Formats: sequence, C-alpha cells, structure tokens
Amino acid sequence: MGRLSNKIAVITGAARGIGRAAALRFAEEGADVALLDIGRDVPGVPYPGARGSQLGEVQAEVEALGRRAMTLAADVTNTEQVNQAIASVLKAWGRIDILVTAAGIDSWAKAWELTDEQWQTMIDVNLTGVWKCARAVSPALIAQKSGAIVFIGSVLSHRANREFAHYTAAKHGVLGVMRAFALELAPYGVRANSVDPTVVKTDMVMNQAYLDRLGGHPGTTLDEAREYYLKWNTLPIPWAEPVDVANAALFLASEEARAITGIALPVDLGALLK
Ligand SMILES: NC(=O)c1ccc[n+]([C@@H]2O[C@H](COP(=O)([O-])OP(=O)(O)OC[C@H]3O[C@@H](n4cnc5c(N)ncnc54)[C@H](O)[C@@H]3O)[C@@H](O)[C@H]2O)c1
Repeated sequence: MGRLSNKIAVITGAARGIGRAAALRFAEEGADVALLDIGRDVPGVPYPGARGSQLGEVQAEVEALGRRAMTLAADVTNTEQVNQAIASVLKAWGRIDILVTAAGIDSWAKAWELTDEQWQTMIDVNLTGVWKCARAVSPALIAQKSGAIVFIGSVLSHRANREFAHYTAAKHGVLGVMRAFALELAPYGVRANSVDPTVVKTDMVMNQAYLDRLGGHPGTTLDEAREYYLKWNTLPIPWAEPVDVANAALFLASEEARAITGIALPVDLGALLK
C-alpha cells in the first residue's frame, strides 16, 4: 500500500522540475496523476519554457510506474482552460483528491525597473494562476468532503530578495491564498498547506540567463553559483533537488498530515534562519 494509494492528483507545472518530481513521487506512492502544463515559452520569461513533448514524457514515466496518467495542455492564467482541464479529470476519473500548484515562472529586475509586463505576467501566473487552479478544484473537494491542496510557494513567501519584487509579492500572495483556502475549506475536511523551497535544481534557476544575473557577468559557471548558494543557505548543500520538494508535498498531501492545515513548510536548507 502506497502513501497515496488510489488517490487522484492534479499537478500543475508537471512537464518538468518540481511538478514532474511530484508526479513521479506521487505515482510511486500509488496515485494516478493528471499532468497540467502550458508546454511552451511564456512571453517575457528570460529562459526557455517546457516543451509540449515533455508532458508526454512524464506521462510515460508515470505509466511505467504502473499508475494512470493524463496530460492537460492548459495555461493557468486562462480561466476557461483551467476549468476545462479540471472538468476533464473529473469526467475521466470521477474525483480529485489532491492539487499541487507547481506551475510558475521567474524573471528579474530592480523593483523600480520592472516593466508593467514583467509585473503583470508574474502576478498572473504565480499568484492569480495558482488561485484559479485552487478555485477550480474546490467544488469537487467540498462535495467529497475530503482532499488536500499543496501550494508551492518559496522562501520568498517569507522574505525578500533583490531584483524579485514581483516574484516576492506573488509568493507572499500565495501564502495568503493558502491560508484563506485552509480556513474556508476546513469545515469540509479539506486541507491546504504550502511547501516553500529555497533554490532548487530546475530549469528555472539552472539556466544561463539566471546564472549570469547571479554572478553579475556573462558566462557565470555552476561553480560560481554553488559558492553563492552555499552562503544563501545554512546547511552545507548548495541547492535542493526537485524530489526534496516533492517529498514534502507528498507528506502534506497524505493522510499522515491529516491534522495539518494552513501551514507553510520551508524546504529551505536553513535559508530562513538567516
Ligand atoms: N527552482 C527553484 O529554485 C524554486 C525555488 C522556490 C520556489 N520555486 C517554485 O516552484 C514551482 C516550480 O518551479 P520549477 O523550479 O519546477 O520551475 P520549472 O521552470 O522547471 O517548471 C515550471 C513549470 O511550470 C510551467 N508553467 C509556466 N507557466 C505556466 C502557465 N501559465 N500555465 C501552466 N504551466 C505553466 C512550465 O511550462 C514548467 O513546466 C514554481 O512555482 C516556482 O516559483 C522554485
């Protein structure tokens, strides 16, 4: 018996990174997973987006673990696409037990130099898109009187970082949205929590544009980034792996966390101690 035996999970941002890791961990623990992703570049984001084909690859990986998987090509900022995606899961599989909101983007500029487009896109994807997905699954969870939502926040849900005013605002917003859903869904036996990572080894941060921002010069190497992050974190580990975040999401989604709602769980290598 897995820790999510026969549960149905919807995971956004599932084509790669943390969403993919959650899909695979959840499947290993017995869940069927619906994999939602935009599968293309997001305008204004300074690194390549996931490809549509990656969603199919994750589907195959889940199926190889002996669980069902379906792919949902959808943009979390688009109400119609989100609602249709959730409706299609309910139609095919009859219920939804878990939502993990891992779809997200990054960009950077000084707080006073962000463009309207950078600000708006960030809020649309990383905050409003998260709320739209939670909104879309809530009626099913309420009707079932069970379920769990795991929001993927960030250490920037709790503190600021230079050149990330829009991301910090969105992630602080996710903390608020998580608490609101936890409060309002609790009477129905539905829980909501967040996992708030420090830097995680995914394409969001392990791309040359991000590394160059970090190092302050073109061609910044992974070794330079390692030195930077060893100072940012407290444990002597430069970055978390996607599975570290997936494991925390797994715990919060499982019955082991039945008494836990409304909490933000940092997976932060001690970064918030500083
Ligand atoms: N990697 C880190 O260091 C880190 C740290 C803290 C928090 N996070 C958060 O973790 C979550 C996952 O990020 P990741 O590191 O796996 O990044 P990633 O870029 O590897 O994956 C993000 C996924 O979200 C998808 N996506 C982006 N915009 C979308 C949209 N509008 N609709 C649907 N899908 C969309 C992308 O296609 C991609 O597959 C994000 O919310 C991110 O903010 C990441």
